[in-house]
Amino acid sequence: MGEDFIRSRRLRKNDGIRRLVRETALSVDDFVYPIFITNGNNIKKPIPNMPGQYHYSVDQLKESLKEVVQLGILAVIVFGLPDKKDKLGSEADSSQGIVQKGVREIKKHYPFLTVITDVCLCQYTIDGHCGVVEKKEIDNDITLKRLQSIAVSHGKAGADIVAPSDMMDGRVKAIRNALDMAELQNVLIMSYSAKFSSSFYSPFRGAVQSKPSFGDRQTYQMDPANRIEAKRQIEIDIDEGADIMMVKPALHYLDIIRDVKNDFPIAAYHVSGEYAMFKLAAQNGLVDEKKGMIETLIAIKRAGADIIITYFAKEIAKELCKK
Ligand code: PBG
Ligand code: ZN
Repeated sequence: MGEDFIRSRRLRKNDGIRRLVRETALSVDDFVYPIFITNGNNIKKPIPNMPGQYHYSVDQLKESLKEVVQLGILAVIVFGLPDKKDKLGSEADSSQGIVQKGVREIKKHYPFLTVITDVCLCQYTIDGHCGVVEKKEIDNDITLKRLQSIAVSHGKAGADIVAPSDMMDGRVKAIRNALDMAELQNVLIMSYSAKFSSSFYSPFRGAVQSKPSFGDRQTYQMDPANRIEAKRQIEIDIDEGADIMMVKPALHYLDIIRDVKNDFPIAAYHVSGEYAMFKLAAQNGLVDEKKGMIETLIAIKRAGADIIITYFAKEIAKELCKK
């Protein structure tokens, strides 16, 4: 007579069987590595609270990205630290801006590395908001003009993908129009579509000095309580012509990733605070660093992300090489 229960454990019996039936696999193709570029020379400065991450000056990019390319990582997302901040964030769309210089340098040495640029104003303005401030309010429509100009200047510098992270209304359509008008039809838009107003951006804001000088980002970034609205934000960005839609942060928003994954590519951003929390726990022996990293990234992929932007990109690529 057969037994009257099911032996699920047969499928977990050994590593070979487990790997045969594994549903989700990570590939180096999944990852985008964020890099921070600063003015100056010969700079490789550790970022406080983001262990293993650095500010690089433009002259250091060739050397520092060599490893990224050798590991087979396909894409980087670039953030800039401008020399000066002003009311309208004028370094953001200058051809001599830090991102523009950085992108040209990267493309000179690594033409096949996909370069994504973050399109926003918060690092570049005195107010530290993602939009232009008029009378203590974030002015949506003035901001759109600035974003158009920034995106076009990134495209002209050689960016393959522009990634607006500001959460203004209408930005994807505005940027698409501006790129097309500038004969940059082949530049993709990766929209930070469902970007939540999160506590987990703090280490990043410290790293790029983009803390708002007053108030917070709740009038433009999404309320963490809203799942249905996230679906709507994704639909709007698809309609406006985004090529890739992003959910950000990742781990606290896996339900959103799962909800929105359908016919279009979805990216998830495992953000600075998520990374920092994990690193600090690992450094204190609370979690196993390698296993915990893999579990984290598998969870994001399992939820439905096609692309994962993560400060772990180099470490996970090294792990995947060992297999
Ligand atoms: C800028 C921007 C932020 C991040 C990416 N682009 C911060 C913010 O919105 O305050 C967060 C990245 C991270 O925390 O790793 N708009
Ligand atoms: Zn911003």
